[in-house]
Amino acid sequence: MRFEIITIFPEFFSGFFDHGVVRRALKEGLVSVGVRDLRDFTHDRHRTVDDRPFGGGEGMVLKPEPLAEALESLGIAAKAAREASLSPILAPESGDKDGTPSSLTEGASNSGTDGAPISVDADARQTGTRVILLSPQGRRFTQATARALISQEQVVLICGRYEGVDERINTLYCDLEISIGDYVLSGGELAAAVVMDAVTRLVPGVLGNEASSEFESFGIADSSISADEAGIPRSQHGSGGLLDYPHFTRPAEFKGLGAPQVLLNGDHRQIRRWRREQQLRKTLANRPDLLERAELSDEDRRMLVDLGWRTAS
Ligand code: ADE
Repeated sequence: MRFEIITIFPEFFSGFFDHGVVRRALKEGLVSVGVRDLRDFTHDRHRTVDDRPFGGGEGMVLKPEPLAEALESLGIAAKAAREASLSPILAPESGDKDGTPSSLTEGASNSGTDGAPISVDADARQTGTRVILLSPQGRRFTQATARALISQEQVVLICGRYEGVDERINTLYCDLEISIGDYVLSGGELAAAVVMDAVTRLVPGVLGNEASSEFESFGIADSSISADEAGIPRSQHGSGGLLDYPHFTRPAEFKGLGAPQVLLNGDHRQIRRWRREQQLRKTLANRPDLLERAELSDEDRRMLVDLGWRTAS
């Protein structure tokens, strides 16, 4: 898949592309990326990309013309023209109650473990280009959003700056407006890097162990993958919408703290149970909101109640 990033700070991304999983994915051609300097699409001496807001108020707004030109230089037509050839995507009010996108297509009907319906026909309908505006006003970016994006051929990330972007760019070109969290950054560049990282590591072949992205926090439930080739229960269980359990490695003792004995004894059933309990404990302590939508067994629920969980209902 390809990412295109439109920004006034193209140099911002060089360090990001040069490290870790993203670097490897780029090197191996599993993803590719282009960075467009918004100022290259201006026509005045000062390469002006912003202007004062109509109606007055603080700050400056990114002008629509350079952004439209940057998008059109990538062959991206206005949304109306694209939707004639692609299936329509993401009706404006189709997110769930916490703002998670229902999917990037219409016609979704299944429900994912993190509350986001998963498209039943995640094939040709989902492929193509998706234009995303990064802004604090967007829908919250979640693991479900990242998963929905991996089926796209091209994801264009527009980095907002200043007070914002002329809304007509959003109206005319953007398929999705995404926020990475309830705080205001000084620009969309960090958010674009977050989105690219989260999506890239889900692209098949990018992570060494294909299963590992499914088992971490917010991963899919373990009902679909519960044993290895030898039929031995996996030492890690799928997250099922919970936070991940704590991890330990050598040395077995560090500054007077031992690694949990259960992890050292090789009993996979006990390890699995311990890890599940740790997931429940951590989720209850740090993100109790996730429990309302997590896949929980009766045993999980009993354990949570013992730990002091009080359901909303
Ligand atoms: N630009 C500024 N703040 C942002 C946020 N929280 N998410 C995405 N883009 C942003």
